[in-house]
Amino acid sequence: MGFLDLWIGIGLIMVTRMVYKNVDQVSPEEAKLELEHLAKEISRHDYLYYILAVPLLADNAYDALRRRNTDIENRFPDLIRPDSPSHRVGAPPAPEFEKVTHPKPMLSLDNAFSAQDVGDFIDRARRFLRLPDDHPLPISAEPKIDGLSASLHYQNGQFVLGATRGDGYVGENITANLKTVRDIPLILQGDDYPATLEVRGEVYMTLQDFQALNTRRVADDEPPFANPRNAAAGSLRQLDPHITAQRPLRFFAYAYDAAQLPDGTQTNCLQSLKRWGFQTCTDVALCDQQSDLITYYEKMQERRPQLPYEIDGVVYKINDFGLQNRLGTVGRSPRHSIAHKFAAEQAETILTDIIIQVGRTGVLTPVAILEPVFVGGVMVSRATLHNDDEIHRKDVRVGDAVIVQRAGDVIPQVVQVILAKRPPTSVPFQFPTLCPECGGHVIQADGQVAKRCGNSFMCPAQAIQKLKHFVSRDAFDIDGLGGKHIENFYNAGLIRTPVDIFTLEDRDKLSKTPLSTVEGWGDLSSANLFNAINQRRKISLDRFIYALGIPQIGHVTAKLLAKHYGALDIFLASDHDDLLTIEGIGPNMADDIAAFLQSPEQRTVVDNLQSLIVIQPFQETRQTESPIAGKIIVFTGSLETLSRGEAKAQAERLGAKVTGSVSKKTDYVVAGSDSGSKLKTAQQLGVSVLTEDDWLKIVKG
Ligand code: IVH
Repeated sequence: MGFLDLWIGIGLIMVTRMVYKNVDQVSPEEAKLELEHLAKEISRHDYLYYILAVPLLADNAYDALRRRNTDIENRFPDLIRPDSPSHRVGAPPAPEFEKVTHPKPMLSLDNAFSAQDVGDFIDRARRFLRLPDDHPLPISAEPKIDGLSASLHYQNGQFVLGATRGDGYVGENITANLKTVRDIPLILQGDDYPATLEVRGEVYMTLQDFQALNTRRVADDEPPFANPRNAAAGSLRQLDPHITAQRPLRFFAYAYDAAQLPDGTQTNCLQSLKRWGFQTCTDVALCDQQSDLITYYEKMQERRPQLPYEIDGVVYKINDFGLQNRLGTVGRSPRHSIAHKFAAEQAETILTDIIIQVGRTGVLTPVAILEPVFVGGVMVSRATLHNDDEIHRKDVRVGDAVIVQRAGDVIPQVVQVILAKRPPTSVPFQFPTLCPECGGHVIQADGQVAKRCGNSFMCPAQAIQKLKHFVSRDAFDIDGLGGKHIENFYNAGLIRTPVDIFTLEDRDKLSKTPLSTVEGWGDLSSANLFNAINQRRKISLDRFIYALGIPQIGHVTAKLLAKHYGALDIFLASDHDDLLTIEGIGPNMADDIAAFLQSPEQRTVVDNLQSLIVIQPFQETRQTESPIAGKIIVFTGSLETLSRGEAKAQAERLGAKVTGSVSKKTDYVVAGSDSGSKLKTAQQLGVSVLTEDDWLKIVKG
């Protein structure tokens, strides 16, 4: 008898012993104990089978354990445990997903596309940390799996909550669906896991499983999924977990809450995750220098076609968690990690037309209409041509054979024309002189490549895009008011400006044809829409500023403005010079913001909105005990032990605002050596001046 057979034998004896008592004769107390034991035991065998690939039980012995668990649960449904293995087959459907606020935002990674970008990433981190060139900085490298990120919460080793990323701050509760994913342990293994643990990783589908799933779908007359990522996304967002249970989803864990173990490293973290029962990437390398990272990247690129799952690049992470914490985040990305993306996939097709799209700020973007072609995992039938200059530089013409490329979630692009295949009748593209949507004149500002529709308030295409932006996820985030609805409401004359959104319900009450009587709407759906709008009558200042759609102002800059001005009225009273004192706002942006604030039409919209909604002042996540919370600080000169970037990040963590120039409003100037005019101004204005040592004392508390 072999070693394995012996184990199977022992397993069978254990099973036989457990089924010894007939289920009908088991008392509730016994059932409770046995269910607890079965949950642990089945979890252990899942770990041996799925993660370590060394099963100890024969299939029939394992099935017997599962059957015993189900039998007891059928008799005592009240005793079903949250970590019961029966959840693997799915729980009852839910009417909708609840929202979950992530304890720490789920960030995204910055991208590197070249060795130069990777070098810049390392240099930036070194500069920020003030590490000399010869000081070691180990960086871990791992594959970037092309799936969807998920967050899993464990309490005392039990899986209690699982969520999607959502907008990074708030995701959806998909616990029941994640419980059906075999790679996700319902109970952790080992005994050294933290009592409260959040694990993050990627839900994905292997290529083989994806193909088999699509074959099944086609046979069942269901539309196939475009790629494994879409298949995984579609499967995870099912309200009925039984459907998810039938989809072959997998999970790779790549992180846990680093703050809990600040002295750890990424490579140790992966080892711990594996010990606790997670699938982790095996192809991880610890690199000491840039050339090792590039070698790793090239190796993975070579192996990519043979891998059983799709990857779209590799991820580099500064290995030491202590350094990771110091580096912190900028915008929505950590400074300690970067994704090095693989080159885009390319394909050849025919360009059948060039159309002009009108954007939110009137920018006219030429778009190539293509004969559909499969590239980078999806069918592509449109690609951006950027602007008129770009069309002429590449001499793209209707009827041309072109190479298109697509990388990850980036918009497909036309890379080049195959001149040898150009039809003899082709003519160069003529950019229209009138806006194709409203007939307004096309204008081009001096020194700018973009051509715009000059009819900014009367062009319906611009108005619709502005409204879509206003209700979008990072702005007002109005559920159930999607792009199509906005278009319909606009065309029906019901919503022409953002103000109309908040008067819609009152007008509807007086209308002879209320929304509930309109085709496609009913009592419930119209009530839901008004409800969703009413829920957004209170909004944070940063979201509000972002929603206004000021050219160049994304959500990161909007937050910067909200943080700087604190309240809407103060922002509205700002001027060009004032805007320039904010670090991160350059003259170009200041021009656009000032122009927006001076426009009477825009001001009317903002004023009218203020009478319908509440715009909440910016809430500092400040540490109130900190002596510099709420203070305005300027750094000048060169600091000995800190980079400017780290000093600024420290100040912001303690609730202070860092600006670039000294004024009467400045509370402190931290002056390093060789401080010039800023120090002088501070002295003239009587602003307190701190040395680097003073500063370090404040930071250390
Ligand atoms: S670390 C700040 N490691 O790539 C986010 N991400 O934007 C830290 N991904 O949302 C993520 N494989 O969904 C990390 N080995 C890996 C990954 C990985 C895939 C995804 C993840 C993240 C996105 C980057």
